Amino acid sequence: MRTVMLEGKGDFTEWRNAARALLQARVPPQEIDWRCREDAARDLFGPTPEALSDAEADNVPQSGLTVPQAFLPLAEAAICHSDPARFQLLYRVLFRLQEERALLEIRSDADVAQLHAMEKSVRRDCHKMTAFVRFKEIDGGTLRRQFLAWFEPDHHIVARAAPFFQRRFTDMDWVIATPKGTAAWDGISLTTSTEPADNPMLTDDTDMLWRTYFSNIFNPARLKVKMMQTEMPKKYWKNLPEAELIPGMIASAEASVIAMAERAARDAPLFHERLQAAARTVPEAPRPTAGTLEELREEARTCTRCALHCKATQTVFGEGPADAGTMIVGEQPGDQEDLAGRPFVGPAGKLFDTVAGEVGLDRSRAYVTNAVKHFKYEPRGKRRIHQKPNMGEVQQCKWWLKLELDLIKPKLVVAMGATALAALTDSRQRLSDLRGRMLPFGEGQTLLVTVHPSYLLRIPDAERRAEETARFRSDLAAAADFARKAGIGDVSRGIAAG
Ligand code: URA
Repeated sequence: MRTVMLEGKGDFTEWRNAARALLQARVPPQEIDWRCREDAARDLFGPTPEALSDAEADNVPQSGLTVPQAFLPLAEAAICHSDPARFQLLYRVLFRLQEERALLEIRSDADVAQLHAMEKSVRRDCHKMTAFVRFKEIDGGTLRRQFLAWFEPDHHIVARAAPFFQRRFTDMDWVIATPKGTAAWDGISLTTSTEPADNPMLTDDTDMLWRTYFSNIFNPARLKVKMMQTEMPKKYWKNLPEAELIPGMIASAEASVIAMAERAARDAPLFHERLQAAARTVPEAPRPTAGTLEELREEARTCTRCALHCKATQTVFGEGPADAGTMIVGEQPGDQEDLAGRPFVGPAGKLFDTVAGEVGLDRSRAYVTNAVKHFKYEPRGKRRIHQKPNMGEVQQCKWWLKLELDLIKPKLVVAMGATALAALTDSRQRLSDLRGRMLPFGEGQTLLVTVHPSYLLRIPDAERRAEETARFRSDLAAAADFARKAGIGDVSRGIAAG
């Protein structure tokens, strides 16, 4: 049996030099007692260290030894492990690799499994060090700011983790002291030593900052104690200023969640006060208002009559000539209309334009508007999903629709969809009962009811969609026909002739 004495503080080169000589001399693993000076110091009566005798060393053949590439990173990590058995394990694997070239691929092999477990433990220790080092500022009497941190790693990882801190905190001078050595950076060079350091027991103002940060990111409703302790194991707590808050936070989490739920049920949403104030200033009955369409549009820009203005980008008011003979009324602006500030410019608007063009209804001569002037939606990821306005919102917005009707006085009003029908007539009749007929409306005006173009876009079956679109086309053709006969002029003569 021969003894190899190593410093054993994570220095891969030290082990590799010894292992290479032993392997070249074909010394089998069971004949070597790998020792670490630290452990030997405790063992006063242990054997005197000895590796190869001078004669043996002289006789070692200098043949090139090779190992699979995957061995080196595993060995470089495992050598940092604090288990004294690591040298023996590494040499055994190295020895076996000379015959069993594919050994590392056999994950069920006990040596390989142990090697991987050591590598994993070292990797985790490095990760925890990068996460849990807390620098404190010290007065080093130099122009550059200086920081000191204390950390207690499980393994000999100081030299391995130090480059991370050099990259991350390159603009300050720092020292990380640990019981397994020290790393220091002065803006020019990174130095590491394996001398054990003492805990400097420092505190500073950043401790308070860490506590404030931690208590602000803590969400009691999401507390999972087990997961938290896996991420931030208890053994690190003593050096983390924020950790002293953890027991109290865990103890009060349940009560905090109940209090949060009670507050949510009791307190009005944040925008509530704004809405209440708006409601107080908006009179109930229509007041004498803008005399022109442009003034009305300007007034509507700041409308807060219902909550929809809170989430919408802007008011989407009607557009078209002030003397239009035909008024087209839809439901509410969609996503694209909300962004563009114009009605019927999205997919439903394009379908409407196409069908209206086919029957000779000239959109540019008609006034196009909506029952509700703000986009109502539900955010879902990056998308905004259309939501039907409720009757309260329709009632509030009727204020604008009525003023538009009063100013424009169209001869023909086309209601597209149930919301437009409800806003224009207060009627509870079904759209299907009124559809396609010329109905008396307002002061000697006429109302034509049809479906909303979005309804057509939502029909999945192509054949049914074609049928329904044909019905929509014949409704718009009836509107064009009416306009032509009433001499409204909202028809493009060429196409409408058929
Ligand atoms: N649907 C509507 O009802 N109006 C628009 O402006 C767009 C889509």
